[in-house]
Amino acid sequence: MNRPGPAFADDLGETLAEAFRLLGVGVADRRSPIHTPSLASIGPDGAPRLRTLVLRGFDPADRTLRLHTDPRSGKAHEISADPRVALHAYDAGTQVQLRLDGTATLHTDDAIADAAWAATPPTARLVYTSTLPPGDPIRTPALPAPTSDGRESFAVLLMRFEALEWLWLSADGHRRARFAWDSAGEGSAEWLVP
Ligand SMILES: Cc1cc2nc3c(=O)[nH]c(=O)nc-3n(C[C@H](O)[C@H](O)[C@H](O)COP(=O)(O)O)c2cc1C
Repeated sequence: MNRPGPAFADDLGETLAEAFRLLGVGVADRRSPIHTPSLASIGPDGAPRLRTLVLRGFDPADRTLRLHTDPRSGKAHEISADPRVALHAYDAGTQVQLRLDGTATLHTDDAIADAAWAATPPTARLVYTSTLPPGDPIRTPALPAPTSDGRESFAVLLMRFEALEWLWLSADGHRRARFAWDSAGEGSAEWLVP
């Protein structure tokens, strides 16, 4: 007898709920592959730039992801020039790929940044204490001694997504779906050929 598939298999609403659930797991569970998604931005030459970041927060009501970075980094400069970003994660456990498109904002000196910094433990703060900007060439890998606690080199990156693409690999037939929201927050959903 065939086992019944998951509720989301043929249901767009359940699929979106599962995608949001996985993003929540990605925040809470360090072992989830969605905890370390790839974030793409657009370089000054128009070429894509990609890197791993830790997913720190997800607000489903606002469709906003929270990540942390150094405001002196390449990605921060790129996002300041062009806020369009994309985020990708593949969870091999559930065989789900998520692709999100949206725009990013950087927060360095506001309540959002202050709250995230306050919740960042001392060990995690250390990566922000470099006196030199990330990506600068150095003669030796050892960094000069820090001169600050890192707060001024800490930024929250909020990504608000207006599209989410779901791909679920299943022996019973792959499922691909696209969810999008207009500027008024009105959502749409459709299945796509996988
Ligand atoms: C597992 C892992 C987690 C990372 N998490 C972050 C992060 O949360 N924030 C960050 O700015 N860089 C993080 N990095 C480093 C970035 O991938 C990247 O190398 C660095 O931020 C410089 O990127 P940029 O030059 O494009 O700005 C992480 C790297 C790895 C491998």
